[in-house]
Amino acid sequence: MSVEALFQPFALKSLKLPNRIAMASMARWATPGGDPAPLADFYRRRVEGGTGLILTEGANPNRPAAGNDPNSLKLHGPALDHWPAVTGAVHKAGGAIVPQLWHCGATAKPGQKWAPLAPFESPSGRQAPGMARGIVMDEIAILETIAAFADAAESAKAAGFDGVEVHAGHGYLLDQFLWAATNDRTDHWGGATLAERSRFPLEVVKAVRAAVGPDFAISLRISQWKSADLTARLVETPQALEAWLAPFIEVGVDIVSVSQLRWDTPEFEGSPLSLSGWVKKALGVPTILAGGIGMSGDFISAFMGAPGRPEPLDAVAARLAAGEFDLIAVGRGLLADPDWAHRVQDGRPRSDCPPARLFAGVTPSDSESAA
Ligand SMILES: Cc1cc2nc3c(=O)[nH]c(=O)nc-3n(C[C@H](O)[C@H](O)[C@H](O)COP(=O)(O)O)c2cc1C
Repeated sequence: MSVEALFQPFALKSLKLPNRIAMASMARWATPGGDPAPLADFYRRRVEGGTGLILTEGANPNRPAAGNDPNSLKLHGPALDHWPAVTGAVHKAGGAIVPQLWHCGATAKPGQKWAPLAPFESPSGRQAPGMARGIVMDEIAILETIAAFADAAESAKAAGFDGVEVHAGHGYLLDQFLWAATNDRTDHWGGATLAERSRFPLEVVKAVRAAVGPDFAISLRISQWKSADLTARLVETPQALEAWLAPFIEVGVDIVSVSQLRWDTPEFEGSPLSLSGWVKKALGVPTILAGGIGMSGDFISAFMGAPGRPEPLDAVAARLAAGEFDLIAVGRGLLADPDWAHRVQDGRPRSDCPPARLFAGVTPSDSESAA
């Protein structure tokens, strides 16, 4: 078996990649005040190590409670002055870069005492059943938030990014609208069906599409699981999956970025297909797949102290070649080693990912190489 399939180019509208390897979005809160300047070197180093696409850590649109840490990355205000240096560094090294637009909703950072300037905001004022936090968004807050996503996307295009990703998974704001357990609104932003609860995320995507024009690639990050409930599920059948996501494709999503805890977990009974495979099969759109690619365990366990160990990539490459997904997003592997992609390509040994790696600040480059 070979890993050659991972090293084929990929093109989708504005997104032109030398290979199929993306760095997964990873918030590390190592950007003081949300200013992206320190990320230029961090991301450039991964691209020099063979990564084709950088999905930035979650970056906030201009809402006072969009971030859950004082160092949450920003895609508005003075931070915009420094994004071109980050996109430029990645492009110069031969890669592409896409920001992840992220609003935390009612999800505070675990252990974080800091609170944003305005209260946390969400559809029904809670992160999960029994986890109340902040305020219920009124109509004005909802409309302003949609506009803030659109502004951030427009700014991203102006700053030289190659596309945008909208974060609608992991139990953050958009997912809080989708999940029945966090959305019991009785206005038109809620409802008994997933289609009704999809209205807010759909309006966000629509506004983002209108802001960036038809040729700029838009990715939608989704997950079944929520950080507050790893067993939560939005859909139970392939038909429900198709009915949920088809409207998102209609309003402008080009690629679906699927977050699983493990990439090879079958999604529905009777088939080995991953959620990502089902998205492709049901909707015919390209997908990005993340979750334990080339690394044992999952990142939630890593936060609880479990080290990740390198795993072979033959099966990943074979399933990509068979069309189950188009790109892989690698998280812990690329924290452990900026040269991850070149090592995979050359068949060289790769590093473990000790839990401490998840929390390290952004540090200049070469010292981060694995032994
Ligand atoms: C330190 C850290 C921070 C993360 N932050 C984000 C984030 O900002 N946005 C997001 O969508 N996922 C985030 N994730 C999840 C990753 O994008 C990815 O899905 C996960 O790490 C699984 O990939 P892995 O097993 O290769 O690490 C984060 C993961 C880690 C380890």
